[in-house]
Amino acid sequence: MKIVHVASELFPYVKTGGLADAVGALSSTLADLEHEVAVFVPGYRSVIDHPLTSAAKRTLKLRIEMGDTFMSGEVRSFSLKPNLTVHLVCREEFFDRRAPYGTPERDYEDNHHRFIFFCKGVVETLRFLEFRADVVHSHDWQCGLLPLLLRHAEQRYEATLAMKTIFTIHNIAFQGVFPMRSFYRTNLPDELMGIDGVEFYGQMSMMKAGILFADRVTTVSPRYAREIQTPEFGCGLDGVVGTRGTDIVGLINGIDTDIWNPAKDALIPANYSVSDFTGKAACRADLLKRNGFDPKFAGPVVGMVCRLTEQKGIDLVLANEAFFLTENVRFIVLGTGEKRFEEELRKLSALAPDRVALCSRHDEAMSHLVEAGSDFFLMPSRFEPCGLNQMYSQVYGTVPLVTRVGGLADTVTDIDATPETGTGITFPPTVAGVAEGLKRMVKLHADPMRLKIAQTNGMKRDFSWLTAARAYEQLYDNAL
Ligand code: ADP
Ligand code: GLC
Repeated sequence: MKIVHVASELFPYVKTGGLADAVGALSSTLADLEHEVAVFVPGYRSVIDHPLTSAAKRTLKLRIEMGDTFMSGEVRSFSLKPNLTVHLVCREEFFDRRAPYGTPERDYEDNHHRFIFFCKGVVETLRFLEFRADVVHSHDWQCGLLPLLLRHAEQRYEATLAMKTIFTIHNIAFQGVFPMRSFYRTNLPDELMGIDGVEFYGQMSMMKAGILFADRVTTVSPRYAREIQTPEFGCGLDGVVGTRGTDIVGLINGIDTDIWNPAKDALIPANYSVSDFTGKAACRADLLKRNGFDPKFAGPVVGMVCRLTEQKGIDLVLANEAFFLTENVRFIVLGTGEKRFEEELRKLSALAPDRVALCSRHDEAMSHLVEAGSDFFLMPSRFEPCGLNQMYSQVYGTVPLVTRVGGLADTVTDIDATPETGTGITFPPTVAGVAEGLKRMVKLHADPMRLKIAQTNGMKRDFSWLTAARAYEQLYDNAL
């Protein structure tokens, strides 16, 4: 098949979260399965400056209609490996900036223009390069308008650009809602400004466009596919999602086992596997030492790696601060995000510097060390479309402590409910739920036999992208 992926992030060139990992690994695995794959991503500064993109060559000059004006740009392309080409849609005014979406204080004010331009750049490239895709698969709100823009261009130029369009929701909490007065920049017909089009409470919603107009809509776990059809998790789009009925499916992401594999991970001080855990002790000692703790500490070591946002349940952790102040545990948090959470966590670590450490930076190597060196990995998300770290934890023999939501519930089996096959501890997304989970963690740590069973079960789980990519292959086949 000829498959096109379109996303606002792509590992290793630009990443703010799991979206980058998912698009990078899925497109690469589909290429390994002999499909002809093209991936489009904006030519952000970090991507252009990345050593791996230095071979990119200009393949197209762009002149994009944006309402009543035209804007120029260009497409640079390079081949990443057999069957996989990456196209960068460039325009300095829009993408030569420090971060993809905004400053720590606020989103860029022209994000709608930036991503309308990006999507139109993709359409123009497909048109001029005559790629004739079987499937154009776009991800999250930044690419939500793509199915509409594609079909509109096909009518206008009497061309076939794509047989089918697929739209994946990685997180319905981010919707790309902008003033309706910007709609004219899309050059789409006015009737799409209504309730049956992109209108969302008087504004334009790019996420809604993707959900309504793609041929198939997917999200990243079966449970989240059900959750987003309820008011509690749908963020106002539950009704819209519901209209797609059986066109909505939830497919669990995989993990990149070349990068996340304790047996060959180059970012940790010692390697280990399910048959020989020795190296894990060295990782644990190194993690403790690097965070200012005694490397010989014998109690539970709890790690956390995430964006510091409400989604990740940071407030649920903070409401349980008494646990971290009184229990003999070591708690290591690696994360950046909202200032209020960073400050509260910093206060907690100042109150208990001998127990709690905060690394407030983005640090790929430290994220691997936290996964490898912790005994437990805390992920108390209020909602979680899929989540990657709970899968990394399991294959690193680190027992995940997770809330029973979305992909967390779909990928972690509770060791108390299912003692023989369990891999982690699951609890409700509440303050009391997290308290219960932490209490059960202390009990599990005191029972080395059960702890070992949970670790071993986790390490034997297969989360490889091959399984996930095959599921997408099947979905594309069915759509076609
Ligand atoms: P989300 O996409 O909602 O942030 P995921 O669990 O899908 O959540 O993916 C998060 C990804 O970002 C993981 O690969 C995780 O290791 C990484 N990550 C988050 N914060 C940091 C950080 N401060 N340093 C390094 N990696 C991080
Ligand atoms: C989003 C979700 C996360 C998911 C990731 C990749 O960022 O918050 O749960 O794992 O996308 O699909």
